[in-house]
Amino acid sequence: MELFDVYPLYDVTPVKALGSTVIDADGKEYLDLYGGHAVISIGHSHPHYVKRIREQLDKIGFYSNSIVNPLQQKLAEKLGRLSGCEDYRLFMCNSGAEANENALKLASFVTGKARVIAFKNSFHGRTSAAVAATDNSKIHAPINTQQQVSFVPFDDLKAFKTALAGDDVCAVILEAIQGVGGLDEPSVEFYKQIAVLSKEAGVMLIADEVQSGFGRSGKFFSFQHFGIRPDIISIAKGMGNGFPVGGILIAPEIKAVHGMLGTTFGGNHLACAATLAVLEVIEEEKLLPRTVEMEQYFRQKAAGLPYLKAVKGKGLMLGLEFDFEVGELRKNLILRRHIFTGGASNKKVLRILPALNIEKAALDRFFKALKTELNYIEKAS
Ligand SMILES: Cc1ncc(COP(=O)(O)O)c(C=O)c1O
Repeated sequence: MELFDVYPLYDVTPVKALGSTVIDADGKEYLDLYGGHAVISIGHSHPHYVKRIREQLDKIGFYSNSIVNPLQQKLAEKLGRLSGCEDYRLFMCNSGAEANENALKLASFVTGKARVIAFKNSFHGRTSAAVAATDNSKIHAPINTQQQVSFVPFDDLKAFKTALAGDDVCAVILEAIQGVGGLDEPSVEFYKQIAVLSKEAGVMLIADEVQSGFGRSGKFFSFQHFGIRPDIISIAKGMGNGFPVGGILIAPEIKAVHGMLGTTFGGNHLACAATLAVLEVIEEEKLLPRTVEMEQYFRQKAAGLPYLKAVKGKGLMLGLEFDFEVGELRKNLILRRHIFTGGASNKKVLRILPALNIEKAALDRFFKALKTELNYIEKAS
């Protein structure tokens, strides 16, 4: 059987990875500043993570959600404490799209309404309601167009108020720092205003923290930079450091009803062990302050780079915006310098999404290689 060909591939075959290093089949080492799309939060094959999952597998890997799983409660407590969201409740699933799917469904149940407000350049996943709330018509199939979504630009309060009028809106969903879109953020004032207006209108505010959560922005959640309180928070990616796990945190005002949400795999023993290991490492290695420190170091190193227009984002969810399209540069960084970085819908942005415990020496190596590659661009132009 052949594979269904949905991705353009770089000709690299990783077979091993440790920390921020990925090793290919020929033993060649790559510096990972992409983390397989913001997934690797505590580093590849972190010893504590490997031990935790291995030990769990020796005991019990899976049972359905019809039994008591004390690991889920343990995880909810630890996540509540580390994130400062103790009064929220946790529902677990398996991916970012699924987290947003559940968030939107819950908002619709609670309000009895169906229209969603999302933002220009948003990305919330590839499934039903999540893809409909994603501002990219190329990935909408005809079946997705039945969903009602109004897209509004960041910082356009007039457009937001117009979209909110009509008494048919169930949810406002946003990424406080856009990932796939290219690291754009709303202003603090705008985010605060939409939180107030949504509350007044009885509309659920969903913070999509799938990419920006679990410390990536330097705070546990990126909405915490904006001083707002969402009704629902969706999480995935860095949560499992590669183990497929997602979830939503649900504010206490929202009452649970049996049958509202459900899942076969979500919150299984292995997923809980992986997530607990991630949280333990975030706490033990003090990765939140470290992320802030590394952002500062990164910004210092980036200052004065040729062709650079801006360093976007927060923490270790960063983007270097150049005045040219970076596709070729990204390819050369991988194939010639052996460094993984990310692209974005904004083709001039090179995305940097390393493990939160990346070393300064790794960033030094990146900037040295980047300067060399930028020289080639200078020579070619
Ligand atoms: C902000 C955001 N939300 C949702 C998703 C979808 O997550 P998944 O690919 O795990 O379904 C992504 C994936 O890139 C994302 O960046």
